Amino acid sequence: MTEAFPNGKTPQHVLGPPAPAAVFLVLTVRSGAEAEAKDFLGDIAGVVRSVGFRAREDHLSCVTGIGAELWDRMFDAPRPAGLHPFIEQRGDVHTAPSTPGDLLFHIRARRMDLCFELARQLVGELGDAVSVVDEVHGFRYFDERDIMGFVDGAENPEDQEAVDSVFTPTGGDDPASSTYVIVQKYTHDMAAWEALSVEDQEAAFGWYKLSDMEFPDEDKAPNSHLILNTIEDEDGIEHKIVRDNMVFGSVESGEFGTYFIGCAADVSVTEQMLENMFIGNPRGTYDRILDFSTAQTGGLFFVPSQDFLDDPDGELAAAEPSDAQNDDPASASARVEETDPPNPASADDPAPADDSLGIGSLRRRDQ
Ligand code: HEM
Repeated sequence: MTEAFPNGKTPQHVLGPPAPAAVFLVLTVRSGAEAEAKDFLGDIAGVVRSVGFRAREDHLSCVTGIGAELWDRMFDAPRPAGLHPFIEQRGDVHTAPSTPGDLLFHIRARRMDLCFELARQLVGELGDAVSVVDEVHGFRYFDERDIMGFVDGAENPEDQEAVDSVFTPTGGDDPASSTYVIVQKYTHDMAAWEALSVEDQEAAFGWYKLSDMEFPDEDKAPNSHLILNTIEDEDGIEHKIVRDNMVFGSVESGEFGTYFIGCAADVSVTEQMLENMFIGNPRGTYDRILDFSTAQTGGLFFVPSQDFLDDPDGELAAAEPSDAQNDDPASASARVEETDPPNPASADDPAPADDSLGIGSLRRRDQ
């Protein structure tokens, strides 16, 4: 059952318990096919419903993200405040590359056959309007572990904290109830990683392997994954993201990997983490796990509300007069963070759009 936020906007199905199966599809849209792709955004929920209806208990969902270049080609309106091409991070030793991507489909379910069928249908309907530039079939590994052997996701925020971390509030610079997703495909040098002692592996993360517990702060190395991914502002407030990494691999090719996916209302939080990991904090103190993990892809996508996806032009038109409303402190009373956590939108049962509140302005942030 889908619920809208009190601001009337229904988010896409971004939050939810980890699904056992996922397909990550990154597509580029052919030049000249922008209108076709835009029309298709409104059809996605129906395709998800058609495929998922036959196995409702297996919770098929699809989160759709739009890349910066496609936004510019598709819409006259300026980009949402945090949407720009993925920022490459070139450290002294390791690089996070920026790779092509106009659309992201993050498909999840309890069964891979549902994910696969949805991927097939979506790409089939888009036809030659798109090219698939990356396709990863991810699976949940033992005890929620990544292929490096560590439980992955334990520090994710939950409930209201997750909602606040992920969804843009009403009245801000971004369309409300949206999020920003960063994806990266990592491959691992498993032979080198497995040659390390368990103690050295644990030191790389700052995390105990068997017990799934965090090291005490004083024992975490400056180049550990946990230290570099803990982001605090000057007031000591920690800023979190929500991750839903999946394992993928092939014994035939020897490719073993982690598909990283991180969502945040403020994309600069995820970007700061990437800078810390690749450039280092301070510079040169880069993330030890990168000595065993190579980022092969990198993309940033804007994930609008379900209402936007169903009717982008209608939502953009509705955003225009809401600018004045956003300057009205009264509109802040509908802020998402002051509400109970919703049951996030499930694309297989979208609630009817409610345009009673604006989706926020599309002004760029002053930086
Ligand atoms: C924590 C694995 C990439 C952000 C962790 C943990 C593991 C892990 C095992 C500890 C348990 C937990 O999930 O909370 C990996 C692997 C990656 C990867 C295998 C890819 C090779 C990334 C990237 C980012 C990131 C690219 C950010 C851009 C975080 C954050 C935490 C975390 C924020 C929790 C920190 C905290 O709250 O203390 N990761 N991760 N990870 N990771 Fe990663």
